[in-house]
Amino acid sequence: MKFIAKTLYGLENVLAGELKMLGAAGLKIANRAVLFEGNRELMYRVNYCARTALSVLKLVDGFMISSGEDLYRKSSAINWSSFLDPDTTFSVVSVVNSKLFTHTAYPGLVVKDAIADHFRKFTGRRPSVNTSDPGILINLHISGQYTDISIDSSGVPLYKRGYRQGNPEAPLNEVLAAGILLLSGWDASVALTDPMCGSGTIPVEAGMMACRIPPGKFRKEFAFMKWNDFDASLFRKVKDVSDGMIRKPPVRISASDISEKAVKQSFINIANAGLADSISIEVSDFRDLRPAGKEGFLVMNPPYGGRLKPGDLKELYSMIGTTLKHSYPGFRAWIITPGRELLADIGLKPRSKQVLFNGSLECILAEFELYAGTMKHRRAVKSS
Ligand SMILES: C[S@@+](CC[C@H](N)C(=O)[O-])C[C@H]1O[C@@H](n2cnc3c(N)ncnc32)[C@H](O)[C@@H]1O
Repeated sequence: MKFIAKTLYGLENVLAGELKMLGAAGLKIANRAVLFEGNRELMYRVNYCARTALSVLKLVDGFMISSGEDLYRKSSAINWSSFLDPDTTFSVVSVVNSKLFTHTAYPGLVVKDAIADHFRKFTGRRPSVNTSDPGILINLHISGQYTDISIDSSGVPLYKRGYRQGNPEAPLNEVLAAGILLLSGWDASVALTDPMCGSGTIPVEAGMMACRIPPGKFRKEFAFMKWNDFDASLFRKVKDVSDGMIRKPPVRISASDISEKAVKQSFINIANAGLADSISIEVSDFRDLRPAGKEGFLVMNPPYGGRLKPGDLKELYSMIGTTLKHSYPGFRAWIITPGRELLADIGLKPRSKQVLFNGSLECILAEFELYAGTMKHRRAVKSS
């Protein structure tokens, strides 16, 4: 079987690494997606265990088209009876980037007609369309003449882990938070803190990684559970094996925020993820926070707008730089923000920078290596 795992821009390589670890073969990196091959068990495992996948699509067919009629002909030739029956509701979602069509919604209607006509021809009945809660969610992707038709095995996107409660201000997408942690190379062998935790997405994702809690553990449903071929005992086996690896956190994970409301919100999410005993959390201004040990990772997502005035933001980012420099020598810091100019206000030279997207918002993830004294002094100490 061929699959397409979708992800956020910039996380393709870390997703490919995860898929490989989970047993996927034939990996191919695409834009915001990774193609892979495997069986039904792997599809269940990727849905349950991949931290940086947004959804997993099972490829039904891929072909070239020259017109709308050609799309109808080729999608009519698919053996739709092996995926659904006249009693299964379905919906077609399309992403179209092609000069062949002036209306982007039209190709989706063509495929919908092809499916309905297939069933009318062979059974005299046709399945109904249900866009809000379909039994089968069909994805149509057209780029130029290239056309892929797939079935979404995830349903509700996988970043909806099931632990988040409330409506926090500017939360990070869970897949992005997990992706940042994987990009940072943090392997739960040193302490990690998020000193501006907001609703706690970074510490919760870090805690789940450290404790090996599968990201799908708190989800009630995956789309594949509604498929005709759903194998409940195989999925139970996948869950039991993955859940059997859950362990206590091997390192200290901590979180803090200046806002009491944010800390309360974080605490609820941390508890919902079963991490109440694994993550410590407190109300604190970052400028007053001191590390518990001599090394570790700081991963943070400072404010970039909202109620703060530009002058206050400049001062906040400059305070972040000063605090990192004076209180955190020996640490590595990863900061994500859409405020490119604000990063310069930190006043430290990033070791690396990378573009990522939080939804449609372009952000920069900057890495800082913190050491005592100047870089020149450090080089001299290293070489002596
Ligand atoms: C963009 S939000 C973080 C969102 C978080 N990553 C999430 O997923 O919910 C920035 C947070 O920084 C906190 N903050 C602002 N100034 C701070 C300071 N001086 N010390 C600690 N936290 C601060 C805010 O209260 C806010 O919760």
